This record gives sequence, C-alpha cells and structure tokens, in this order.
Amino acid sequence: MLKLPGLIDPHVHLREPGATHKEDYDSGTCAALAGGFTIVLAMPNTTPPIFDSTTLDLALNAAKQKARCDFGQYIGAGPNNADVSASLAGKAAGLKMYLDSTFGELRLDDMTLWRPHFESYPKAYPLVAHSESRTMAAAILFAAIYDRPIHIAHVSLKEEILLIKAAKEKGIKVTCEVCPHHLFLTAPSPLTPLPQREGNHAANPPAPLGRRAGDEGRREVRPRLATQADVDALWQNMDVIDCFATDHAPHTLEEKDSDNPPPGFPGLETALPLLLTAVDAGRLTIDDVVAKMYKNPKKIFNLPEQPETWIEVDEKAEYEIKAETQFTRCGWTPFEGWQVKGKVRKVVLRGQTAFEDGQILVHAGYGKNVREQE
Ligand code: NCD
Ligand code: ZN
Repeated sequence: MLKLPGLIDPHVHLREPGATHKEDYDSGTCAALAGGFTIVLAMPNTTPPIFDSTTLDLALNAAKQKARCDFGQYIGAGPNNADVSASLAGKAAGLKMYLDSTFGELRLDDMTLWRPHFESYPKAYPLVAHSESRTMAAAILFAAIYDRPIHIAHVSLKEEILLIKAAKEKGIKVTCEVCPHHLFLTAPSPLTPLPQREGNHAANPPAPLGRRAGDEGRREVRPRLATQADVDALWQNMDVIDCFATDHAPHTLEEKDSDNPPPGFPGLETALPLLLTAVDAGRLTIDDVVAKMYKNPKKIFNLPEQPETWIEVDEKAEYEIKAETQFTRCGWTPFEGWQVKGKVRKVVLRGQTAFEDGQILVHAGYGKNVREQE
C-alpha cells in the first residue's frame, strides 16, 4: 500500500449553480474523494457565472452545505468587475480569465479588458488564464509587464510548453498545468482508422480516442485533443509542467451525443489511476505525481495545510475503468475500458476516513472552504 498526501485539483467544474443535472458540489466532491483528491478548486463558468459578491456567495453557500472534501471557488474575470473581484480575492480560490472561447459565457476578447485585472488582482492569489497558442503568448507578456504571477490552464500543444519553458528561463513568473487527457489521448486523424478500444492502455503511447462513427461529441474538449507530436512534447518537458489538473468538465452522455455537443471530459476519478499506470510503466515517477498533484499546487494556489490527511493507494491493483462505478453524475468517461494499475483504497481527511473501498464515509457539508481558516 502506497501512502500519499491528499491530492489537490486546481481545475474542476462542479456545475453549481445552474447545471446540477451534470454535477453538483456533492456528487463532484464524492468523485474527488474517490479519485484521491482532498482539495478541489471550482471554476466560475456556471449559470449564472460567478463574478461578484452575490454570485460568489451563491456558490459558496451550496459548497458549504454539500461539499465532502475541501474546496475553493474561483471568481471569473468579466468586462467590468476588476475592482470587485480584487476585493473578493481573500474569499475566492483565484481569478479565472477566459481569453479564448469555451463552454459558458465568461470571455474577455479585447486586450484592453485584460489590463485592469492584471493590475488589480492581489499578487498573493492566483490568476489563472485559459489562453491557447498565441493568446497564451499575450497572457504571458501581460504577466511580465505587470510583474505578477500567472498560471496557465490546460497546456496541450508543443508550441505552448516550449513557450512556457522559455518564459520560465527568462524569469517570468509563469506556472502551468496539464490534464491527463492531453497526456493520454490524441485527436484522431480523419484519414486513419480508429483503433480498437481494447488496445488502449495508459502504459502505452497514447491512442486516438473512440472507435465508432457518430461519437464525435465525446471527443469535444477545450483545448482540443492534439497531435502525437504535441503529446510527445508534453511528456518530454515533464519538468516544465508544474501541476496535473483534471479540468473535470462533466456533461451528460445525452448532451455529448447531441447535435450540439458541449466540450469537456470528466476526469476526477481517472486521473490518478492513469498517472500511476504511467509510473508503473516507467514513464513518470511517484515524486512527479506528488510534486504535480500536491506540493506545487499547494504553493502556487496558496493553500492551507490539511492536518491528518493522506490517501492510501494499492499500486498493484489492476482493473478496467468503468463509468458505472464512478460518482460523477455525468455517467461516462473518455477512458471507458482502459486497463489501469493503481487504485485508491482509502482517503483520510482531517482525521476522518472520508472514503474507503468504494464508499464515501463523510457527510455532505464536511468539506471546508480553503480560504476560511480558523
Ligand atoms: C469546460 C466546461 O465544460 O466547463 N470545457 C472544456 O472542454 N474544458 C470549460 C473549459 O475549461 O474550458
Ligand atoms: Zn476548465
């Protein structure tokens, strides 16, 4: 049995308020515990979006009643809320800036709208940017100009990881996260036949996702799945990656298989098993996992110590990923049928056994806001 610290996921979508048929603070934090996470930071692209004191309280009140693991709630950067969000920084997980389009309404197109946020959000708290490709270069330039740290969400491309490497070498205060789905899946080329799902294994090089016609919706995610060369660049630059974050973005199967599928994959319950399988295959070390899922996020996101908190993992347990055993409400996983090695057996959170052998053992409301310290 392997004992690890409680894991931190700095990027999840718990869909509360507004879309609790996909997930809520209860189901999402059950999924977190089952995946070995004891802190999750929830994104603000809800309905309504979290962008001021009233909407932040709406999410935090739901969280307080329902969360089973510890949590933080991001506030979203809008066209007119730089002062308000800066004044709420002590209550929020951080400020999320949507600089490229994705699911939800929060988006800052014009760069004149970026400046007030870079200037006002307190430097002690994280500013997280959804910025892809050239937008990422612009966001990193803003961080350099305003001399403040920036955390880049879900890096997926070779050009992006190389840019971040170069920016770090210049001393710019940039950190980044990569999602398991961008490490284990590639976009299928329309010209090559899709492989059998049975061939997929987290220990092997990544395989295109999916195999049947008509399931394109299940491959929709932002940033999109990339090429083999992009995936290889992420693995080759493992030392540039500060955190693994799931970007747990649940949508129901009905929504994913509809004519207008929303982008996003669930990820809380598959991240650690996939990464431990890669450790078993010699592609990563356990120290990488602990650094990128505990030490680095704790520091970057300015998170408190969780006393008497750890997880126990059976490194030898081999099994098949199945959506039907998951706690997430969305009812599917892009890794259905994958063989993995490494199972979360037990999670102890602040002295209480919160999860053991598939059972959640703490009540809704046990989770604490990471920004509310006694
Ligand atoms: C996310 C969602 O569904 O909220 N979707 C996604 O594809 N990642 C939004 C996001 O993180 O960009
Ligand atoms: Zn996201």
